[in-house]
Amino acid sequence: MAIRTLLRFGNETLVTASKPVVSFNTKMLEDLVNDLTDTMHQFNGVGIAAPQIGVPLRVIVFGFETNPRYPHAKPVPYTVLINPEIECLNNEAYEDWEGCLSLTGIRGLVTRYKNIRYRGYDLSGNLIEREVSGFHAKLLQHEVDHLNGVLFPSRIKNLKYFGFEDEMIEWRKTIGEKLD
Ligand code: NI
Repeated sequence: MAIRTLLRFGNETLVTASKPVVSFNTKMLEDLVNDLTDTMHQFNGVGIAAPQIGVPLRVIVFGFETNPRYPHAKPVPYTVLINPEIECLNNEAYEDWEGCLSLTGIRGLVTRYKNIRYRGYDLSGNLIEREVSGFHAKLLQHEVDHLNGVLFPSRIKNLKYFGFEDEMIEWRKTIGEKLD
């Protein structure tokens, strides 16, 4: 178990699609998940994807009870999800401020699907399938984007709503109120 270095926006691995996992129940996979979990916790993340620590495999880890970076978000159960797939359930949109451990201190307003179904596998290869909405759904879309080499800035419709969090803190609140 170890805290790994996070790759930052601009690194080629972050904009490259990751490969599916083919073998479950391996030491390599277990070590990877432990490192992802430790690194996510160290940097107060709500989720993390393997390419963010330089491993181009389709593995994500997410979940939190409370999180200082997203104080209003409802808890999401700690989950290891391998080879995840997402299906949107309807066209209802969810607009929220998004951040990323690979772009520390930066936030952008992103529109995601509000209601999704996702499925994938745990470390032993058991199927996990859930229907979720809101922050949980947004989180999954963000992490699966990482596995496809997509970072949240490319999802921002209006770059006016993209920047350093501490510069935007006051006027961002007024937008947040409109969103609630
Ligand atoms: Ni991210």
